[in-house]
Amino acid sequence: MTHSQTPAAPPATLFLFGASGDLVKRLLVPSLYTLFRAGLLAPGLQIVGIDRVPGDDESFRQHLGDFLAGQANDPAAETGEIDLEQWPAFAQCLHYIEGDFTQASTYRQVTRTIQASATGNALFYLATAPRFFADIAERLGDAGLLQQDAEQYRRIVVEKPFGHDLASARALNERLLAVLSESQLYRIDHFLGKETVQNILVARFANVLFEPLWNNHYIDHVQITAAETVGIEQRGSFYDKNGALRDMVPNHLFQLLAMVAIEPPAAFGADALRSEKSKLLGAIRPWTTEEARHNSVRGQYRAGLWKGEPIPGYRDESDVAADSHTETYVAMKLMIDNWRWAGVPFYFRTGKRMGARDTEIAICFKPAPYAQFRDTQVDRLESNYLIIQIQPDEGIWLDFEAKRPGPTLDMETIQMGFAYEDFFELPASTGYETLLYDCLTGDQMLFQRADTIENGWRAVQPFLDAWQEDDRVDDYAAGEDGPASANELIERDGRMWHPVGAVTGPDQTARRKSNLRRHGNVS
Ligand code: BG6
Repeated sequence: MTHSQTPAAPPATLFLFGASGDLVKRLLVPSLYTLFRAGLLAPGLQIVGIDRVPGDDESFRQHLGDFLAGQANDPAAETGEIDLEQWPAFAQCLHYIEGDFTQASTYRQVTRTIQASATGNALFYLATAPRFFADIAERLGDAGLLQQDAEQYRRIVVEKPFGHDLASARALNERLLAVLSESQLYRIDHFLGKETVQNILVARFANVLFEPLWNNHYIDHVQITAAETVGIEQRGSFYDKNGALRDMVPNHLFQLLAMVAIEPPAAFGADALRSEKSKLLGAIRPWTTEEARHNSVRGQYRAGLWKGEPIPGYRDESDVAADSHTETYVAMKLMIDNWRWAGVPFYFRTGKRMGARDTEIAICFKPAPYAQFRDTQVDRLESNYLIIQIQPDEGIWLDFEAKRPGPTLDMETIQMGFAYEDFFELPASTGYETLLYDCLTGDQMLFQRADTIENGWRAVQPFLDAWQEDDRVDDYAAGEDGPASANELIERDGRMWHPVGAVTGPDQTARRKSNLRRHGNVS
């Protein structure tokens, strides 16, 4: 978003259902405040929190203001350093309705609020527990609050998780689409708000360099990793019912997959892009339950050390069953049966309490033919890797072979890199700024369509079925990069994981090389 050229979103009333929750406090309101400071919210925008927790406009403003003040000077905060000068002006946009989501009186108050506003535009953001999503939408529908016309829009934003399996995602889509149209529905995945995720499409489609190589003739395999050092924080009761696969794979990791693997869309518009994504996810080979078991590994962290600090095991976290078999780590392999990707395995892994924070896509190219090096010191050629790093250090890194100086022909893997921060100023962002702006302006490009969501769940359903029958989970110590069985999963195909945390900016090249050496990738 280039702020200088971006117009402010039109005035509207933004209702935040679940206003006393963490998401509103930690991410949504700070992001709205950032948009406000950037001049991207129209003066008439009103933000109305709704929740059962007793409160009024004043206490709501105070609660959010106190939180931001606590973050303001903390460079490590999700929101980055925040200048609070404009907070008093912004706080005037904040209002609160104390109400139960299941009571008609709450919706009467919503109606009165819209009637009293200068605009009929209304955006209903469901930042609630998922069991309320369909109920709230139906009640809004019953109250006539979802009827829009050319003068005024009515939209619903649905947070994740969108369903907990294929059947529940379908059922949720059905109930929502019975009361509003797809064009009014914004299913959010905050990974799509990350600049580097969006940059994947620009790198692929705005340069001639990559796309000719971007297929099964040149690419050996792709690895998509989201390694986290954090544990489950205060979310034991949610996490223990869901686990790593549901929490991360059909949503966040599949967004990365889609960006890296879709066909070029006919235009950079919501319909064209979302159709390509749906097509791609629809082409994932449906494993049988047996194949899914064979192609996946579940892990759970036990007590361990991270940077010398003792970390408790998952089963000792609060709100987690003492004999829990929930996975905090998953690794899996998928195949995409289309012309571009047939025969190219896609490996995924994500986990909590791993050794380093690292979200990346590693594209491993096929090695060049060796023949001409037969009579040299070089005994084999390494594969070139292209690493698209999403976080923490955003950039793109390319490994290739270079001649080591000296009289004989010998070579070494070196790295060419583009670090975002070397070229652009990256304002601290939660990822929600772009997405909130887009729902206020009506751009659905970065939101999930019903068919994409269902195709995603369809691809992971065999794993859920397999684990229902056999919920074995292998352990790994907190601070390690997953269980040993995850290495076996990829090594039995003659490949190896790209080391977690190996690419973290040019000054880390040495660490990375030593990692690769350890893994036998560098001679
Ligand atoms: C959330 C998951 O959707 O994404 C969390 O529920 C996870 O478990 C988080 O930690 C990761 O997002 P990010 O932006 O911190 O990488």
